Amino acid sequence: MRSASVLPVFMGLLGAGLAQNENVTLIDPINRYDNLTLSPPAQGFPILQRDFEVPPDCGETTYVGRGRLQGLNALITGGDSGIGRSVVIAFLREGANVAINYLPEEEPDVDDLADFLQEEGLSFERIPGDLLNETFCTELVHEAADRLGGLDIMVQNAAYSGILSGESWQPIESQSTEQLERIFRTNVFANFFLTRAAVPLLPRGGSIVFTTSGIINSVDSNAIDYGSSKASISYMIRSLSAQLAPKGIRVNGVAPGLTYSPFLASGGFTAEAISTIGGANAYGRIEQPAELAPIYVNLADPLATYASGNIWAATGSVPGPV
Ligand SMILES: *[C@@H]1O[C@H](CO)[C@@H](O)[C@H](O)[C@H]1NC(C)=O
Ligand SMILES: *[C@@H]1O[C@H](CO)[C@@H](O)[C@H](O)[C@H]1NC(C)=O
Ligand SMILES: *[C@@H]1O[C@H](CO)[C@@H](O)[C@H](O)[C@H]1NC(C)=O
Repeated sequence: MRSASVLPVFMGLLGAGLAQNENVTLIDPINRYDNLTLSPPAQGFPILQRDFEVPPDCGETTYVGRGRLQGLNALITGGDSGIGRSVVIAFLREGANVAINYLPEEEPDVDDLADFLQEEGLSFERIPGDLLNETFCTELVHEAADRLGGLDIMVQNAAYSGILSGESWQPIESQSTEQLERIFRTNVFANFFLTRAAVPLLPRGGSIVFTTSGIINSVDSNAIDYGSSKASISYMIRSLSAQLAPKGIRVNGVAPGLTYSPFLASGGFTAEAISTIGGANAYGRIEQPAELAPIYVNLADPLATYASGNIWAATGSVPGPV
C-alpha cells in the first residue's frame, strides 16, 4: 500500500550541488506543515515508514549540508525511519560517514532510504540487529568503527514505547512486566551497553547524542514506564558528561515533542489522537522529524566544544527539560 509521495518530484533539486551558496530561506514554524492530514498505518511493532500514506518529513527536500561533519564517522541507531532517518540524511549531507542500526524487519525502509540517497551519491553502512541483545550492542559499536574506520559520533535514537496513546492507557495494576522490561532494556540498558563499548573508541572531541523526550517535563499519566525510561536517559546524559569531560568527550541529548513517525504509530497514536494532541499546543500541530535533525547536527558539531551535559528540547513552545 505504498502510495506515491511528493518526494520524487523534488529529487531534481538534490544532489551534490545542493544549493550550498544560496541564501537561506526563512520558514514559518507554525504554518510549515499546514493542511497536512497525518494518517499513520494501523498499530503494531515495528511499523514501516513505507506504509504511511502521508510519509513523515525527514528533511528529504529541505536539509542543506554545509560540511559541518565532513569526514567524521557516526553510528546512528534507529536510522531506518522517523527521527533517526532525518539524522542520517542530515549527517550524510554534512559529509559524515554513517553506519546505521535497525531491526532486521525494518530492512524495507532501509532499502527505500538507500535508494533515495543513492540519487545524490550518498550511502551508509547497514548493521541490522536487536538492541535487546547485550552482546550485539557491543559488537555493533565495534563493527561500526571497523567499517567506518573509527568512531567520532554516536547518536542513540532507537527506542521502544509500548502502547502510550490515551485510548490504550492501562492503569499500573494492568501494566505488564514484559512491556516494562522491553522499554527499559531498549531505552536504558542498550544506551548503557552502547556507551560502555563506545567510550574507549571515541577520540577527544568526539560526542554522544542521546534521545530523551519532552515527556519527562510533562505529567503524562499514560507513560509511567516509557516516561521513566526517558528520565533515566536524561540522568545518564548529565552524569556521563561529567565523567567523560576529562576524556574530551561531549555528551548531550535531544528532547523531541510528539513527532510524526513509525515510532509514534507503534505507540498506538491514531490520526485522530495525533490531531487532538498536536492541536492542543501553541503550534497547533505535532512535530516532524525534519525539525529535529538540525539539532542533532548542532550538538555533534565539533565546534560546539562547551556544549556538554545539555538537553536540547524541541517541543514547540512547551517548556522542555533543561
Ligand atoms: C542573497 O541575498 C542578497 C541580498 O541579501 C542578494 O544580493 C543576493 O543576490 C542573494 N543571492 C542569491 C544567490 O540569491
Ligand atoms: C491551507 O488551507 C487554507 C484554506 O483552505 C489555504 O488558504 C492555505 O493556502 C493552505 N495552506 C497550504 C500551505 O497549503
Ligand atoms: C546476541 O547477539 C550475538 C552477537 O551478534 C549473537 O551471537 C547471539 O546469537 C544473539 N543472541 C540472541 C539470543 O539472539
